[in-house]
Amino acid sequence: MGARPKITVVGAGNVGASVAQYTVEKELGDVVLVDVVEGIPQGKALDLAQAGPVHGYDSHLVGTNGYDETAGSDLVVITAGLARKPGMTRDDLLFKNAEIVGGVVEQVVSRSPDAILILVTNPLDAMVQLAWKKSKLPAKRVIGMAGVLDSSRFRTFIAQELKVSVENVTAFVLGGHGDTMVPLPRYSTVAGIPITELLSPERIEALVTRTANGGAEIVSLLKAGSAYYAPAASTVEMVEAILKDKKKILPCATYLDGQYGVKGLYVGVPVKLGRSGVEEIIQSKLTPAEQAAFDKSVGAVRELVEKLKL
Ligand SMILES: NC(=O)c1ccc[n+]([C@@H]2O[C@H](COP(=O)([O-])OP(=O)(O)OC[C@H]3O[C@@H](n4cnc5c(N)ncnc54)[C@H](O)[C@@H]3O)[C@@H](O)[C@H]2O)c1
Repeated sequence: MGARPKITVVGAGNVGASVAQYTVEKELGDVVLVDVVEGIPQGKALDLAQAGPVHGYDSHLVGTNGYDETAGSDLVVITAGLARKPGMTRDDLLFKNAEIVGGVVEQVVSRSPDAILILVTNPLDAMVQLAWKKSKLPAKRVIGMAGVLDSSRFRTFIAQELKVSVENVTAFVLGGHGDTMVPLPRYSTVAGIPITELLSPERIEALVTRTANGGAEIVSLLKAGSAYYAPAASTVEMVEAILKDKKKILPCATYLDGQYGVKGLYVGVPVKLGRSGVEEIIQSKLTPAEQAAFDKSVGAVRELVEKLKL
């Protein structure tokens, strides 16, 4: 490891390994990959290092089952956790992943007290709230990835519908991750034109519904496992915005302290990401219908968080 930023990725499964891959392909820093399964992080780190000569990256990669190698990380991405298995309720997953994420946070923060944490493990909004509590870090340095993925899915569907480049499409989403997320079509644009001027309300509704069910659509196709390319790409967009101090505005799960009428809870809203983490919460006026949908999403997040009794 040298003078490059140090990025730890905990969980070397589908999402974590892809985060490591995209991170080194963009040469954002050196990567430490951690997992409980012996051999997996070591094997994947070595394999990715051997792609370096072909892709032209010099980022160093280390795989480990411990945490000593993570010391002094600038940024830690947490993807460790279980996916829902047959017979397991959402609550089972909540408590099991809370145990895993709580343990991981303790290990990483004691060795990297200045790091910024990005949480990916589901249920996302509850896990990021837990990580913030356990870490005792300032809220601006504990951030959840969900909105970038949800808006990327929405952008994909809008671009396909209108047969335009995905690069021309921006989207704006609020709220918790998944089925209660709140896309804001009037702030979602194609080359600056709101999609409300380009698509019928029925078509927009159909794209919104497909976006909200975006994760489930992929699970039903893959059968075993859930999406990971787009989740990893979305995470790495956040990593890049932070490490390059881009001041990029992205929808992230962030701690609200009165903004959008919410106090003391992590929820997805647009934030400005820079080298110190969440540098600003971007606020916008919601219509009564949007506020009602947002409040419903917040209610669902609060219900999960309350179960954790943090
Ligand atoms: N926020 C989002 O938008 C989003 C998107 C996709 C996936 N996810 C979530 O990300 C998580 C990972 O998904 P995946 O597809 O990579 O799953 P995966 O099963 O492929 O990988 C999870 C990895 O975590 C490891 N792990 C388990 N306990 C650990 C511990 N205590 N310490 C270190 N590693 C541990 C496992 O060994 C496994 O390799 C899941 O919770 C999933 O629901 C979230």
